[in-house]
Amino acid sequence: MDHGSPRAILLKDYTPPAYRIDTVDLRFDLRDDAAEVRAVLVMHRNPDHPGGPQPLVLDGQRMELVSVALDGTPLGPDAYVLTANDLTIAQVPDRFTLETVVRIKPQENTALEGLYMSSGTYCTQCEAEGFRRITYFIDRPDVMARYTTTIEADAQRFPVLLSNGNLVDRGTADSGRHWARWEDPFPKPCYLFALVAGALVCVEDSFRTASGRDVALKIYVEPGNEDKVGHAMTSLKKSMAWDEAVFGLEYDLDIFNIVAVGDFNMGAMENKSLNVFNTKYVLAKPETATDGDFLGIESVVAHEYFHNWTGNRVTCRDWFQLSLKEGLTVFRDQEFSADMNSRGVKRIGDVQGLRTVQFTEDAGAMAHPVRPDSYVEINNFYTPTVYSKGAEVIRMMHTLLGKEGFRRGMDLYFQRHDGQAVTCDDFAAAMADAGGIDLTRFKLWYSQAGTPVVDATGSYDAAAGTYRLTLRQTVPPTPRQPTKEPMVIPVVTALLGPDGAALPLRLEGEAEAAGTERVLVLDRAEQVFTFTGITARPVPSLLRGFSAPVTLRTDLTSADLTFLMAHDSDPFNRWEAGQTLATQLLLRLVEDVQAGRPLSLPQSFIDAVAAVLADAPSDPAFGAQALVLPSESYLGTRMAVIDPDAIHTAREFARRTLARALKNRWLATYRAHSVDDGAFSVDAAAIGRRALKNICLAYLMADPDDGEALGLCLGQFHGARAMTDVIAALQFLAASPAPERADAIAAFYERWKDEPLVVDKWFMVQATAPRGDALAVVRGLLDHPAFSIRNPNKVYALIGAFPGGNPVAFHDRGGAGYAFLADQILRIDPMNPQVAARLMGPFSRLKRYDAERQAQMIAQLERIIATPGLSPDVFEVASKSLEAAQKG
Ligand code: TRP
Ligand code: ZN
Repeated sequence: MDHGSPRAILLKDYTPPAYRIDTVDLRFDLRDDAAEVRAVLVMHRNPDHPGGPQPLVLDGQRMELVSVALDGTPLGPDAYVLTANDLTIAQVPDRFTLETVVRIKPQENTALEGLYMSSGTYCTQCEAEGFRRITYFIDRPDVMARYTTTIEADAQRFPVLLSNGNLVDRGTADSGRHWARWEDPFPKPCYLFALVAGALVCVEDSFRTASGRDVALKIYVEPGNEDKVGHAMTSLKKSMAWDEAVFGLEYDLDIFNIVAVGDFNMGAMENKSLNVFNTKYVLAKPETATDGDFLGIESVVAHEYFHNWTGNRVTCRDWFQLSLKEGLTVFRDQEFSADMNSRGVKRIGDVQGLRTVQFTEDAGAMAHPVRPDSYVEINNFYTPTVYSKGAEVIRMMHTLLGKEGFRRGMDLYFQRHDGQAVTCDDFAAAMADAGGIDLTRFKLWYSQAGTPVVDATGSYDAAAGTYRLTLRQTVPPTPRQPTKEPMVIPVVTALLGPDGAALPLRLEGEAEAAGTERVLVLDRAEQVFTFTGITARPVPSLLRGFSAPVTLRTDLTSADLTFLMAHDSDPFNRWEAGQTLATQLLLRLVEDVQAGRPLSLPQSFIDAVAAVLADAPSDPAFGAQALVLPSESYLGTRMAVIDPDAIHTAREFARRTLARALKNRWLATYRAHSVDDGAFSVDAAAIGRRALKNICLAYLMADPDDGEALGLCLGQFHGARAMTDVIAALQFLAASPAPERADAIAAFYERWKDEPLVVDKWFMVQATAPRGDALAVVRGLLDHPAFSIRNPNKVYALIGAFPGGNPVAFHDRGGAGYAFLADQILRIDPMNPQVAARLMGPFSRLKRYDAERQAQMIAQLERIIATPGLSPDVFEVASKSLEAAQKG
């Protein structure tokens, strides 16, 4: 099918639905050749719809229509109009019952949207618009209905039959078949519908809610994986307790199911009472999963659980409001993880992700506001901007209202909107009303794209005892948004005195000092804040906790930054001071590389790293983060034109120099933290120790001539039991020129070839190993028996990880990396457009590179866009990338 140029959907065109659906009765007959879906919809004309009587238009794609009946009367083909995308009935009564029967082919569904099969299990993915591939329906989130679902299938091969809500009846049918009926008492949009049928085993537990109701918790996995669900179950129970304690939100049904499937486009899905998860976010034991995996499971289980209130009970009016549920729910899962682990360490990790991924998106062709105002394919807008920047917007409201005010705002939001489909404005209104503040201008965060730049300069007047802080902001132009207004930016600030203690703060005009930390609200292009009663030159600690998603530039000296590294009581800013110092230094080294000058590291920097290392054992997780140099991708975001080769050379030089200069200290810290803690627990302390140990090993291995380091690394690779340690060692070996590397890679596969999630790590380690032959290796692995182009996890691990994890090889001057990526996108697109479009990211950022690389990427985009039958998903990214490339 050729789409030509698919049309954009606009926020300003929103109108309420012409019809509403009260109840849905679905019957699924699952057969080997096809599935038959019978749907009975009880509907009525929507009195809120502007204008006169409208035809009934039902969305439906990729289905064979078997029959339609209106109020029991079968309709002939001339009573309706059928297209590839919808079914239209010109005239219907004010209230009526519509019955349709369709046939669909889950066995052939490679897009993993709608009803599909994942290794023999039937499952569904309906968000955002997958339900229209299951039955004819008004597929939009502001149409909420009550569902009854009956599933019939072969009893032997599909013993487990699940849908949303409560199991109300079950029985047997002819020829070895059985059925189950589920009823969901809560009205919901169709994107929250789910069905699962398979031969799964279930691990069961229970949770008693604050009001004393017992909820059955069931996690369904393929047989053989029962020993890997403990952490997901614990995480679920912690999430349920946390949401009660922090937000007063209780679970609302007697059963909560999670099903893990190996083929899934994203992380997980919050379907009402039947969450469907990518196995990656359920299955873990220390032998097979890293500490990062354990933390990821904790946060994704929490995220999906939290959606029950922020997403399901209160849902989105339309898909432009996606951040209403996603930004808020990410904020909630971040806070949960911060409470379960180390708050500072969690914040640093989240900001690193935001700055490398979201800031990059915001500076590229796909830049869009947290609430987009136009899209071609909604699946392209499940983005770091909607999720992570959206969470930052909620976090800023939390900062402006304070903890109690924010809680009052949440209470008011649920009081007003429980059971409704609403907008980001409704959320902001609840917050503004509860907090007694005006958020009108603050809401620019929802409509203006681009990362604001804040410049801060300070001047101390000893005679007057004042410190003047000047803050200026600019918001860069983004596609279709050439000019911007100043944003409302909360800049959490402290001033540190000469002894490192935070000073009492009194702004000019205030009667007395209040507190040692203030939320300065920058809401104009430039503002001056004057602090009085300051008796010695202070060092400012600005944007504490990363209080706004902006790029902060300051006039702090190296001495100031070193002072903050030692004294700032805000862990984020203590870390940030070191990163700023390292970033400045590395960017200078990059210039030296580009100019062909000799490279050297100042002794003061080596001393600063030594000091951080000496301190690290007091808080290993924080120390480990503080010891990692800014990533190659982060350094790229700070350059006018990204030079991947020079960045890599400069950063590797710094790592190697630090490895040699501090060798004995890396060794000592490695040894002190490498005692295997028998139970290999995944508590925050043990995770921190492993992180610190592995960063020490990373530095030691950065010196390719260090035989002792190689020995330690091989020892860890062969001897460690926790996957965190094994994979870290393998990663360092894979990046090294050591002759042992090939054997290690082979041995790892032999050991883990029966664990798909571990094999994904094996692919990723090879795709991201910075070596001259990386592209050839990745190409070769496409033919490996364990690789599957149809499995999203495999595609992301091998193809998706390559550009960002191996920038030097991907941006190779010959353009081979670009051609490779385009080849794979074109190969995947006909099977799975969502996955294909997700691989387009690097091309949407081509303007950040030099002219030669730009031209090569443009050539690939032109090849892609000229391909007949391209999906709207890939078309949208390709056309926007080309459009941005041609401008300016
Ligand atoms: N709502 C899901 C979440 O945030 C996201 C999601 C899961 C999704 N699967 C998807 C979005 C498929 C689009 C398509 O947890
Ligand atoms: Zn979500």
